[in-house]
Amino acid sequence: MRRAAVAGLRLAALASLCQLCCLPPAFAAGSVSYWPLYLSGSSLDSNSTRSAENNVYYGVISMGTPAQQFTVNIDTGSSQLWLPSILCTTPSCTTHKQYNPNDSSTYRPTDYTVELQYAEGAVAGFVDTDVFSVGSPAITIQNQGFGEMTNVSSDFTTVSSDGVMGLSPEASSTPSFLQPFLRMADGNLLAQPEFSLWLNPDVTSLTGGEMVFGGYNTARFTSPLQGIAAVNSSKYWQVNLDAVTIGGKAVSGIQAKGAIFDSGTTAIIVSTQDFQTINEAVSGLQYNSELQAYVIPCEQATNANVPALGFKMNGTDFTIPQTAWLFELVDTQASDGSPLCYSSISPGNGASDPITLGANFLREWFSVYTYEPPNSRVQLAPASGSSGSA
Ligand SMILES: *[C@@H]1O[C@H](CO)[C@@H](O)[C@H](O)[C@H]1NC(C)=O
Ligand SMILES: *[C@@H]1O[C@H](CO)[C@@H](O)[C@H](O)[C@H]1NC(C)=O
Ligand SMILES: *[C@@H]1O[C@H](CO)[C@@H](O)[C@H](O)[C@H]1NC(C)=O
Ligand SMILES: *[C@@H]1O[C@H](CO)[C@@H](O)[C@H](O)[C@H]1NC(C)=O
Ligand SMILES: *[C@@H]1O[C@H](CO)[C@@H](O)[C@H](O)[C@H]1NC(C)=O
Repeated sequence: MRRAAVAGLRLAALASLCQLCCLPPAFAAGSVSYWPLYLSGSSLDSNSTRSAENNVYYGVISMGTPAQQFTVNIDTGSSQLWLPSILCTTPSCTTHKQYNPNDSSTYRPTDYTVELQYAEGAVAGFVDTDVFSVGSPAITIQNQGFGEMTNVSSDFTTVSSDGVMGLSPEASSTPSFLQPFLRMADGNLLAQPEFSLWLNPDVTSLTGGEMVFGGYNTARFTSPLQGIAAVNSSKYWQVNLDAVTIGGKAVSGIQAKGAIFDSGTTAIIVSTQDFQTINEAVSGLQYNSELQAYVIPCEQATNANVPALGFKMNGTDFTIPQTAWLFELVDTQASDGSPLCYSSISPGNGASDPITLGANFLREWFSVYTYEPPNSRVQLAPASGSSGSA
């Protein structure tokens, strides 16, 4: 999820933090843990209509003693973990599982509140700590900070997941609130200080994807991983962008100098100017002012007519085929009734922002995120099951 603003913590941070002192001895250091992800059609969302339409990736976590289970959107574009509170009475909460502190013997309140603003939606509530568990074999973290959200905007009513789990490498100024992966990495819990992400290129499958904490599953990609240094943006998994390419040729006049990997966003989000520059570099795409998007007759959206779109990073052109970013419109057809396809390269970022590479890119490229400052990095390889993009 792209965040429109930084978390506005109401209270100042305490001077000294101890994020690491409470890691459980039970989980042997050097482990790898697998975590299945879901997209659409899962019965984990009891509303089958919503489940069929859902477009965010999510997995199951547990919080509390005894464990209360929740689903959380996995979001490499934000850095906080939150769940809807039992105290929240709007449909955005009541259509989801709600965390009840009274039902957990390990719940602890903190002196902190939190407000988060996403590109779509906002949440606010208390910072609590409780026992958190994720993956298989389960990684358990004592006193994991999370937002117990009492205000959740209506945007979340149509989403399958109960809450959000941020995975970006952003520090936290609030004690205990550091996101779980960074606590695992800082606490040397994992075989490697990394997680990896496979988003199934087949979006109709009930297997939405897989996350691995501590390493990666070699069955999920087809040729060697290629590394890109993460720039220390302090906020995102961000890298330098050498060029945007069409058919292997650099598109001239691109504003963005960087790219971020964001599993919480579906499309590829760019600045208003890059939106024009990139889409107009593809012959056949035309701006449709009603839809505020670039469209092309679907019959022209073929690999032969639309060359691969690439993002060149650390010298390598990571390309995606047109099937990964041109999609048929459901409600709109061409004037002769034939199908129209739209471009998922969408405006929304500021002129100096990095390009947001959402699920449309990440389904084609398996990704590994290694937190090892000052040598943090992202590695990519063609995803197993993809329509061919390397
Ligand atoms: C189920 O989800 C759909 C789509 O989000 C919504 O329109 C409908 O009201 C929901 N039904 C219930 C019972 O919450
Ligand atoms: C939790 O317990 C407290 C103290 O017994 C009570 O006042 C409060 O209403 C309870 N909250 C919920 C959500 O049950
Ligand atoms: C929570 O929602 C209530 C009612 O809509 C509103 O008055 C209040 O300002 C919100 N609190 C925060 C922290 O956003
Ligand atoms: C960037 O590419 C060079 C040349 O292929 C490679 O040696 C280097 O390891 C890459 N950077 C990272 C962070 O992997
Ligand atoms: C960025 O640098 C700071 C200071 O060295 C460090 O604390 C932080 O973890 C680094 N972030 C990343 C993503 O490497």
